[in-house]
This record gives sequence, structure tokens and C-alpha cells, in this order.
Amino acid sequence: MAAGCGAGTVGHAIYAARMATSRQPGWWRPRRDRLILVTGGRGLLGRHLSETDLTRRYSWVAPTSSALDLRNRERVLEHVRGWKPSVIVHLAYRRDAASIVGATAHIAEAAAACRARFIHLSTDLVFAGQEQPYTERDAPDAPQEYGRWKAEAEARVAFWCPGAVIIRTSLLYGTVHLAPWQDDVRQRKPILWNEGELRCATHAADVAAAIAVLVRRREVRGPLHIAATAAISRAGLAQAMAGWMRLPDGAVRTAPGIAPGRPGRVVLDSSLAASTLGIHCRPLAAALR
Ligand SMILES: NC(=O)c1ccc[n+]([C@@H]2O[C@H](COP(=O)([O-])OP(=O)(O)OC[C@H]3O[C@@H](n4cnc5c(N)ncnc54)[C@H](OP(=O)(O)O)[C@@H]3O)[C@@H](O)[C@H]2O)c1
Repeated sequence: MAAGCGAGTVGHAIYAARMATSRQPGWWRPRRDRLILVTGGRGLLGRHLSETDLTRRYSWVAPTSSALDLRNRERVLEHVRGWKPSVIVHLAYRRDAASIVGATAHIAEAAAACRARFIHLSTDLVFAGQEQPYTERDAPDAPQEYGRWKAEAEARVAFWCPGAVIIRTSLLYGTVHLAPWQDDVRQRKPILWNEGELRCATHAADVAAAIAVLVRRREVRGPLHIAATAAISRAGLAQAMAGWMRLPDGAVRTAPGIAPGRPGRVVLDSSLAASTLGIHCRPLAAALR
């Protein structure tokens, strides 16, 4: 199978090693005409992305963090040079500076070197929170480390790949593949869900579908907000999820206000993606139907 992939020596070696040992056979699919590199492919959004038509339209390379640690610049440049992807979708992250800022800089530099279409995933938490929805014209002002690292990562992407699209989305959930916070709800962990923390909770499949559109629409560049339009509190969201999971009343504990160090109302205005690209994310009630 590796012989058909068209990637360089490094790529062949990795394919061979991974194909021999992989417990996740879906991480690599044979080359058809073009190659897409997905980082973080085993994560929540990556699993949804692997269910879009991108896997039919492209050869699919999605190395795990143990196969390719994005914090290692030399290895990233070497592997991407070998693969020569025409598209890179960068989903990988972990909540530390090296895995967000450093890793993003490395993969963006590699994308620039092979002139790949670059799609970067960022977050609404680059913003501090305010009454009005945030548009793409608003400047990041995150008070927390995570949001500041993600904002810095956006800047690195803009530096290396000015033609990249930087998707900012909100709190993600799934209905087949669940987010860790949904597992917390299902397991009835003793968590307080706050009523003052408002986000535009979005089904990961809708963001994955938007990514598939943006792979084609290479002229779209810069920040783009992609999220459901309605804001919902984390308390309301946890309760809705508990209802969807048919948990008994009282399974979710809620609290007023905002937990220390967490943002309050962070609402993305996604009307630009809707009006120019026809990208719409389902409201929670429709997605949970
Ligand atoms: N989930 C949300 O609510 C949410 C909200 C807004 C924005 N986003 C953004 O959406 C993107 C995807 O989020 P997600 O929830 O799908 O993430 P996730 O489920 O936590 O998955 C992240 C993936 O990143 C990979 N990774 C971590 N460190 C790495 C490294 N050093 N080198 C290579 N791979 C590494 C991991 O791979 P392995 O499994 O192989 O270790 C993991 O599968 C992120 O950029 C995130 O900031 C997410």
C-alpha cells in the first residue's frame, strides 16, 4: 500500500512502521490524486473530519502525536517535505504553550515550504468576553493563558501562511463521538456547571463540514468565525445534554455566575461565513434531535 502513496522516503518509512503496528487502521488511506495532512486526527474534530467526503477526495495522512510530535520542528519539516501535502488541516493541540504556539509555528512553516492550503483551528477563547458578539474584525484580548497561546498561534499562522484560513469555533460536542465534557456529564461527575458562562456550543460535525468547504475555497483567508448562532450557558448545555442522554433529573449540578478564571459571555458572530459561504451550524435542539 505504501508504494502507492507517492510520498517521500520519510513518509514511506512512517507508513510502513505505522501500518505494521497501528491499532487505528484509519489513520492512513492510500493515495488517490492529492494528499491531505490532518494533525490531531484522532481527536474529537479529527474523528468528525474523517467522516466527511475529504477522505474520498484526498489521500489521508493523520499521524498520531507519537508518530509525529509537532513540537519537534526538524521532524515536522522533514516529514512534511516528504509527504508534500496539498492541504494541511491543523487540529492538534494540548493545553501548553509548546503544543499550541510552537507546534503551530512548525506546521505552518512546513505548510509554507510546500505551498499547502493551510486550515488552522482556533477558538472563541482568544476573546475575553463581552456583551456583543465578536466579529472577525475584533482583536484577540484573552486574559487566560490558553486563549493567549491560541492567539499567538494565530499570529504564527498569519506570518508563515498569509493565505491560511483561521477558523474560530466555540465549545464542541458530538452525538456519536462525544467530547470529554460530555463524558463528564454522562458519568455524572461532581462538576458545577455555571449559568454565567455563555458560549455558542457547536456540533463538531458542522465544523468538520465547514472545513471540507474551506479546503475547496482557497481564496478564503484570515480569521473566520464558525459556530452555532445561539449562545447557551454551560449550565444550560450540560442540562440539555443530560436530557439527551436520558439521565434522571438532578444529574447535573449548576451554579450561578462564572467560575474563577473562566470567561463569561463569549459569543461569536458567524454571519460572515453564513453570508459569503453558506456555512451554517445547527442549533443545539436540532443537532440533538
Ligand atoms: N473541543 C472544543 O470544544 C474546541 C473548542 C474550540 C476550538 N477547538 C479547537 O479545535 C481543535 C481540535 O480540537 P479537538 O477537541 O478535536 O482536540 P482533541 O480532541 O483534544 O484532540 C487533539 C489532538 O491533538 C493531538 N496532539 C496533541 N499534542 C500533539 C503534538 N505535540 N503533536 C501532534 N499531535 C498532538 C492529539 O493526538 P494523539 O491523540 O495522537 O495524542 C489529539 O488527538 C483545537 O485546535 C482546539 O483548540 C476545540
